[in-house]
Amino acid sequence: MSNLAHSPAWIRFSAECKLADRDAQHLRILDAAGLRVDLSAQAWSPRFEQAGLTLLAQQGFEAARRDLFEGGLCNWTEGRAAWHTALRAPEPPAAVAAEVREGRARLRRFVEGVNARNAYRNVVHLGIGGSDWGPRLAVESLAGHDTRRTVRFASNIDAHAIDDALAGLDAQDTLVIIASKSFTTTEPLANAARVVEWMRQWGVSDPYRHIVAVTANTAAAEAFGISPDRIFSLWDWVGGRYSVWSAIGITIALVLGLDAFDAILAGAAAMDQHFLEAPLTANAPVQMALAAVANRSVLGFASQAIAPYDARLRHFVPWLQQLEMESLGKNAVRNGTPASVPTGATVWGMPGTDGQHTFFQWLHQDATGAPVDFLLCKQPDHNLTHHHRLLLANCLAQRSALLRGKSYEQALEEAQRTGGDPEQVAWLARHRVHPGRRPSTLIVLPRLAPYSLGALLALYEHKVFTQGVLWDINPFDQWGVEFGKELANKLAHDLTEPGPSGVSDLDPSTAYWVEALSPSVKS
Ligand code: F6P
Repeated sequence: MSNLAHSPAWIRFSAECKLADRDAQHLRILDAAGLRVDLSAQAWSPRFEQAGLTLLAQQGFEAARRDLFEGGLCNWTEGRAAWHTALRAPEPPAAVAAEVREGRARLRRFVEGVNARNAYRNVVHLGIGGSDWGPRLAVESLAGHDTRRTVRFASNIDAHAIDDALAGLDAQDTLVIIASKSFTTTEPLANAARVVEWMRQWGVSDPYRHIVAVTANTAAAEAFGISPDRIFSLWDWVGGRYSVWSAIGITIALVLGLDAFDAILAGAAAMDQHFLEAPLTANAPVQMALAAVANRSVLGFASQAIAPYDARLRHFVPWLQQLEMESLGKNAVRNGTPASVPTGATVWGMPGTDGQHTFFQWLHQDATGAPVDFLLCKQPDHNLTHHHRLLLANCLAQRSALLRGKSYEQALEEAQRTGGDPEQVAWLARHRVHPGRRPSTLIVLPRLAPYSLGALLALYEHKVFTQGVLWDINPFDQWGVEFGKELANKLAHDLTEPGPSGVSDLDPSTAYWVEALSPSVKS
């Protein structure tokens, strides 16, 4: 057992957190790279704020942040840096400057080349997890107005996904991006093989001339058939879920334009500067991380809800689920012992106002509930002011209702207004009590533009990093995912050819289903 829970800074942090105000009497709005982050509805007091600073110092935050930006071995279980900030820095750090610049220049030349030839009306992006969510979120949330090409994403191994992605496209006019850092992931490789087959069915003579790979494993991409001039590099110091800033973002540049991709990088770089330079009490990622740790490990909230009040941000939820849960869903601290306090929360959500009619009831009246991050854009990209007024009103109303709740006395007074049998009225009032004091954060973007989206993603990246430091866990590995992958590979084999020991090393239920399902996959 690690000793965080027994450390002086933790004991103080947790005691002050329980005493802190949770009624938003203090207006606490931080400005970060053009975003406004309102933490007023999170636990706060001057003493709690001080306790947070002491905890950061105890956990070595300043040195860890330096390591992150200087290419130190932040991913200590895999012996690597996690240097995604280098990819968006206007002046990349010297140690990687040459490859980063060369990578940016190659991407630019390629995109300018295809634009100049007016080539490819369609782009099909094949990747999964971090090689999918970032480009998908950017393209689908920013695509509204000015898209150069039709884009389709296929991530799932379920062939319905690739079938849907290819439906109605002209293969001769389609460019395929295989985005896979490892170039060993089942999903993009199986989907890429299907695309090659599809291109041949369309009579494309050299399908590989229609394919581009983005990978750290160039040898495997070449072995697949892609020529080196169509392979864009990625490096082992870029984590999968932090890779949208690399050439994995080529789909963004092809669909939204190079300027949009540059603006996404610039927004993220501005957030990097804020994270590096803002005083810790006014540092948005740091304060969001302290609030998240307090909510999870002290106040007992096992999950975190996300409610973007912008329908275009629907993919923000899965993007963040991967970032948070693949990064923080761990229980071993640096020395290998189990964490002494609860770590990584479950992240879930849906855009408002749909969420209001789906799960907000639970947020309002469940015994525990969950903290909520509300996101909204001040300026919409439509002229329907009436809709926007209602959207803003709903967002603010939900947040306020979760915070203030409704006491029994208030509910009773309300119920009494309709009159009736006093016992019935009292009974009904008990059903209409709302506990309130539900923590939330409100993040306001000036507009949903490439720059503010880049800043938003980097805000959460740094929040997650800081939580990793506070909990002493490595946010850059994903052993659980690897474990599941290994077993899936074995079962894929067993479904066609059970090994010499048959399926006897499986649990009885899995063994039963391997036997029962294998006829459906024997060709
Ligand atoms: O989901 C696990 C994971 O390793 C992610 O971290 C990564 O983004 C994804 O798989 C895809 O991996 P790759 O880019 O190597 O295909």
